[in-house]
Amino acid sequence: MANSSLYLHLFSTLVLTIISSTQGQQFKPTSLVLPIHKDPTTQLHIANITQRTPKLSLPFVIDLNGRFLWENCDPRYRSSTYQAPRCGSPQCSLAGARACLTCPSSRPRPRPGCHNNTCGVTSINPVSHISALSELAEDTLSVRPITNSGSNTGPPLTVPRFLFACAPKSLLKQTKTNVLPKGVQGFAGLGPTSIALPTQLSSRLGLHRKFAICLDYDGIVLFGDGPYIVLPGIDISKSLSYTPLAITREGEYSIGIISIQINNKKVPLSTTLPITTKISTVIPYNFTVGHLQGRDTILCQGAQIRA
Ligand SMILES: *[C@@H]1O[C@H](CO)[C@@H](O)[C@H](O)[C@H]1NC(C)=O
Ligand SMILES: *[C@@H]1O[C@H](CO)[C@@H](O)[C@H](O)[C@H]1NC(C)=O
Ligand SMILES: *[C@@H]1O[C@H](CO)[C@@H](O)[C@H](O)[C@H]1NC(C)=O
Repeated sequence: MANSSLYLHLFSTLVLTIISSTQGQQFKPTSLVLPIHKDPTTQLHIANITQRTPKLSLPFVIDLNGRFLWENCDPRYRSSTYQAPRCGSPQCSLAGARACLTCPSSRPRPRPGCHNNTCGVTSINPVSHISALSELAEDTLSVRPITNSGSNTGPPLTVPRFLFACAPKSLLKQTKTNVLPKGVQGFAGLGPTSIALPTQLSSRLGLHRKFAICLDYDGIVLFGDGPYIVLPGIDISKSLSYTPLAITREGEYSIGIISIQINNKKVPLSTTLPITTKISTVIPYNFTVGHLQGRDTILCQGAQIRA
């Protein structure tokens, strides 16, 4: 049976240093919190993310290895602060966008996701493995800081012109085997790229280049340095253990595993340790450790990885 404290320990070790520049802003939080919730049907972790003007909060799947935030822009994305960077702009280079888009003449009126001379990025749905060319876009994003003194989280903080991908609705297409949590509008990528959620938040808000993720039924993603005061008087940054995250050639996070225990029992492995394994939040149903030989594939829920 899953032991939530072990589980918290397991995932609280996923702390990353991101390479990005820092820019100032008038109010400087040291950390931000994004509550997440595990969907009981799909076992995927979802977060409500607030964007647009007027503000709209929508559920997104958290994708640890996702390259950026992408969302369904059909049929009616409405926001007065939506912008699509022109081809060749610094935003397009930052996003590594190579495509330059034109909107079909059957769609004479520009709308979010369909402009001429804007750059295109490939959004990937990691559950269905479908991908789609999407317009690189910018819009306001709101996040909640953790106040420094604080027993409580502060009022929302606004990040103007946050970069994301405006994807077609077809990317959220579900089948019997590719089920998404109800109402999900996209995926929020936390991957090691220059426009992933943690990287943009760090660079735009001057946060330390770190994030932590605790994946429980009610979990959190924490951006920046501690204190991580998520409950009155409790700074959880003190109880976290840290492990360096490596980045694979495919641009995915991995950790080195020294031993695996399930319910305090060491699991014998046929592989020589240490091994490196990819870690992911979007393998549906259960978090598994791959790259182990056949029968050694482990369900990590309730397991403790010592790295
Ligand atoms: C997201 O918002 C919905 C509706 O307001 C709420 O029921 C749900 O608990 C929220 N989820 C998270 C992870 O905050
Ligand atoms: C984009 O350009 C094409 C032709 O180059 C034109 O037919 C179309 O109406 C333009 N679309 C928008 C949204 O400007
Ligand atoms: C996932 O793990 C939970 C808890 O260990 C277990 O109850 C459930 O049956 C597993 N689901 C699948 C699809 O293996």
